[in-house]
Amino acid sequence: MNKIKLTINNQTVYHPMEVDVLSIARKHFIGIPYACCGGGCGLCKIKVLSGNYEIGMASKTALTDDERKEGYSLACKTYPKSDLVIEIVRI
Ligand code: FES
Repeated sequence: MNKIKLTINNQTVYHPMEVDVLSIARKHFIGIPYACCGGGCGLCKIKVLSGNYEIGMASKTALTDDERKEGYSLACKTYPKSDLVIEIVRI
């Protein structure tokens, strides 16, 4: 199982790749706000500063097309495909 290095607000953890960012953060006690865990509320918004990832199904109101283009994502629907550096977005 491949592991990735995930850096969230300057805190780095290592975790298997096949898991969403919110689950990784919760496992390592990194506080990303969340509510629905289903891509609907937008509370878990993050900005990806570097790395490759896929975004699962998410509401267009929780994450707009413009936000996607600017590197924003939702932690609960972000699946790392490489090491990632992200920032938590406080909304
Ligand atoms: S927790 Fe609601 S969109 Fe991620």
